[in-house]
Amino acid sequence: MTDRVYIFDTTLRDGEQSPGATMTHSEKLEIAAMLDDMGVDIIEAGFPIASEGDFAAVSDIARLSKNSVICGLSRANFKDIDRCWEAVKHAARPRIHTFIGTSPLHRAIPNLDMDQMAERIHDCVTHARNLCDNVQWSSMDATRTEWEFLKRTVDIAIKAGATTINIPDTVGYTAPVESADLIRRLIAEVDGADEVIFATHCHNDLGLATANSLAAVAGGARQIECTINGLGERAGNTALEEVVMAMKVRQDIIPYETRIDTRKIMAISRRVATVSGFPVQFNKAIVGKNAFAHESGIHQDGMLKNRETFEVMRPEDVGLSGTSLPLGKHSGRAALRAKLDELGYEVGDNQLKDVFVRFKELADRKKEVFDDDLIALMRINEGAE
Ligand code: KIV
Ligand code: ZN
Repeated sequence: MTDRVYIFDTTLRDGEQSPGATMTHSEKLEIAAMLDDMGVDIIEAGFPIASEGDFAAVSDIARLSKNSVICGLSRANFKDIDRCWEAVKHAARPRIHTFIGTSPLHRAIPNLDMDQMAERIHDCVTHARNLCDNVQWSSMDATRTEWEFLKRTVDIAIKAGATTINIPDTVGYTAPVESADLIRRLIAEVDGADEVIFATHCHNDLGLATANSLAAVAGGARQIECTINGLGERAGNTALEEVVMAMKVRQDIIPYETRIDTRKIMAISRRVATVSGFPVQFNKAIVGKNAFAHESGIHQDGMLKNRETFEVMRPEDVGLSGTSLPLGKHSGRAALRAKLDELGYEVGDNQLKDVFVRFKELADRKKEVFDDDLIALMRINEGAE
């Protein structure tokens, strides 16, 4: 029996908050359409009170989306919540997401004591719920909030009508054991917890966002908040492609399923990289240029015999046409022969030996040997014979 995990994508809100990652109105609409089409359950389309542009983007995404719930973010005050509702109300399935920082550091900013904050949460969630029957509450910086107070905020939000409770690791501070434990204890100790969905929202400051999100799911969370390519403030948010593929590939130990059509991952990854201006690092899991590339002779030889030797998932499952075996100084004869075959050259063993020597000389001078380099090399070699 596998449990369903809802995928909440916040590329257009938390992702866009990365300094320099702003997207135009039409780019946001395009990304939202791709998210909707690939099976994202909830799209956080923006922060409507932040600007006229954000308001317009959330409103238009709400009007145009076909399948996903469309969510807008609002701080815990009536003005933000009303503005958010004005934008999301056009959706077939709207959601208001409201939050406040509950840790001691964050409580000091609006200068609210615990009782005042508790009252604010009650009033704001009640107000949001009077507007919309789908309300998400977030206790921001939950992982640095005192346990008793965190429990109290969650309890108040549930009683006031929140349907999703988000436990954000706002500064990427938690670790997998703690992440699982926090959700498990909240579900066990807060009245009514079994009637709402618990969400996990992790940042990647210590490189633990994916592990922490999956641990939270093991603890009982059923919504993962994430972004394409892990785009997001500072070191980013949990990467959608990582959590989704981890659940798909390791069903045996992470037995949860999503509605994501994983074959659409590469296309959206490339588009988000282009419109945000944030290139994907070469060795990024799942979507990096090298994620399915093998250069060394031993690896290439293994891959040519059986792709499972060095790949735990099929490139086709994330929307690539296949594995790549780039030729470089670590490559061996088997990969060179396979590439020459592909380019239409039939080479005997002796010719391969000669070409291999020239190829290695070239590879020592170049980072990668491309098809055109090989064609030129074959011409030289045929001239020399
Ligand atoms: O990181 C965070 O806590 C957030 C909240 C607004 C949910 O992005
Ligand atoms: Zn965040």
